[in-house]
Amino acid sequence: MLDEDRSATAATVSPQQHTRHPGMQPASTLGKLGLAMSTMIASTIRLIRPPQSNKRKRPQHVVSEKSTRTMDAYAAEVRDLLGVSLEPQQLLDMSGKLQLEYRAKLEASEISMLPSYLHTLPTGRETGDFLALDVGGSTFRIALIRLGKDEPGRDGLQVRRIRSFVIGKAIRDLKGRAFFDWMAERIGDMLAEYNHIKGTTDANLQMGLAWSFPIEQTSPRSGKLLAMGKGFCATHGVEGQDLSELIMHSCRARNLNVDMRAIVNDGAATLLSQAYRDPTTRMSLILGTGTNAAVFLPCSALGTGKFGVRPSSWYAAAEHVLVNTEVSMFGRHVFPRTRWDDELNSKHVLPDFQPLEYMITGRYLGEIARLILVEAITTAGLFAGEMPEKLREPYALDTRILAGFQTDTTRTMSKASAAFLDAHALPSQPRLSELHFIREIAQLISRRAAIYLATALHALWAFRMEAEEPQPCKTTHITVACDGTIIEKYPEFRAACQRQLDELCIFSGASKGAVSLAMAPESSLFGAAVAVSCIADD
Ligand code: GLC
Repeated sequence: MLDEDRSATAATVSPQQHTRHPGMQPASTLGKLGLAMSTMIASTIRLIRPPQSNKRKRPQHVVSEKSTRTMDAYAAEVRDLLGVSLEPQQLLDMSGKLQLEYRAKLEASEISMLPSYLHTLPTGRETGDFLALDVGGSTFRIALIRLGKDEPGRDGLQVRRIRSFVIGKAIRDLKGRAFFDWMAERIGDMLAEYNHIKGTTDANLQMGLAWSFPIEQTSPRSGKLLAMGKGFCATHGVEGQDLSELIMHSCRARNLNVDMRAIVNDGAATLLSQAYRDPTTRMSLILGTGTNAAVFLPCSALGTGKFGVRPSSWYAAAEHVLVNTEVSMFGRHVFPRTRWDDELNSKHVLPDFQPLEYMITGRYLGEIARLILVEAITTAGLFAGEMPEKLREPYALDTRILAGFQTDTTRTMSKASAAFLDAHALPSQPRLSELHFIREIAQLISRRAAIYLATALHALWAFRMEAEEPQPCKTTHITVACDGTIIEKYPEFRAACQRQLDELCIFSGASKGAVSLAMAPESSLFGAAVAVSCIADD
């Protein structure tokens, strides 16, 4: 049997970076979490920030002459606005409104609640060797995946070879076919070294792709390329074209003996990979730089127009369908917002496009905190009114720094403080009360994010329960497969989200533990392979 090989080339990343969000420099001051969080945020920031000079600029004294409020008064206001008293009944009302939004978009929408072609979930007995591709916001990963329980105690999902390639700005800038040629070249390199699966070097490999972007599915194997976001130019000149054909065209030009058999959104891939291990899986959650959820629903929950043109054999076989919700786009009129959320939204390149995402993901938690700090410095005398130069720049406060304040529970918070000052130098040490203020902001922002997310998940759970009528079984336990750096690594996040979800489910008549959040490691790659096997069995 082949050993797992995680060798890297200049373009590949180190083993620790084999997460969904590789790409940033380690931050020694932040430890493990800092590394994970840093990998997640850097590429985002690189997209937004103009090139910078290395020269550190001096902080400026900016406190307004007219400023009359004290830091105590400002902190109380922040607490009041962000720490919204979210009683279960209030949250249930919000969940009810979200369910209405979900229902409307399941009836008709071209950009959210997108049905895949998958109408059955894996049994866990699928077997085979597959080439899995995972195109994320900052990494392209290629892996040889083996499905099948060949040894007792194993879960039947094995990474036998893996290579990761950082998608830097130069790659994101590639237009049209050039991007797919770049992908094919990487696949070619991988195969040249590792295609020994069946004892030959030229075995045909069935490929599955997890795509971290929306896609309009036109067959199990393909879909129309939709706008990619996340700073990618690949759709330039080829938007609306067949994604599978674009990739296969570049692969054929290199004589690669591969065949694209399944394309799924990364949220759907996460659900599939966990369903292979755990038959109670019915929903998934991605929470990293971006957010998304997938759900397995009865076909009757969707408007007929949502399915596009499908063969009658599909309708004959399908009772359920795996749906990519694009949940980030919901909640605009549901979740209470603060003036800092409004400011972030109004300055965003796509205002109102992903309202939930703007309040809960790794890309934005740091930015909300930055806006609060800037206001505190300019109007309430935080840091004696000294503004670290870089803190003025949008998206300059990494979410990993916020997380550092929650990880560092020491009284002096020296580690968290050092990480902050390393990025945002001040002429003198901040006072302890100021560090406590930053910690409190971190706690408030992440707690609110966990609560809003739990509400959105509760709404999806409740909607699914109702859609499953006439057998609504509120006592039946379901698993939500989770992936992404925030849900995995942000201190206390998953526990807080689970607590809130438990409370809401109990309030709506379910027993404790009706819904559990379970981490699904390597879920994009495994899910892409599982998708191929599900479609092959179809
Ligand atoms: C973005 C994309 C979505 C993807 C999610 C997580 O929100 O729109 O398709 O699943 O990021 O990667």
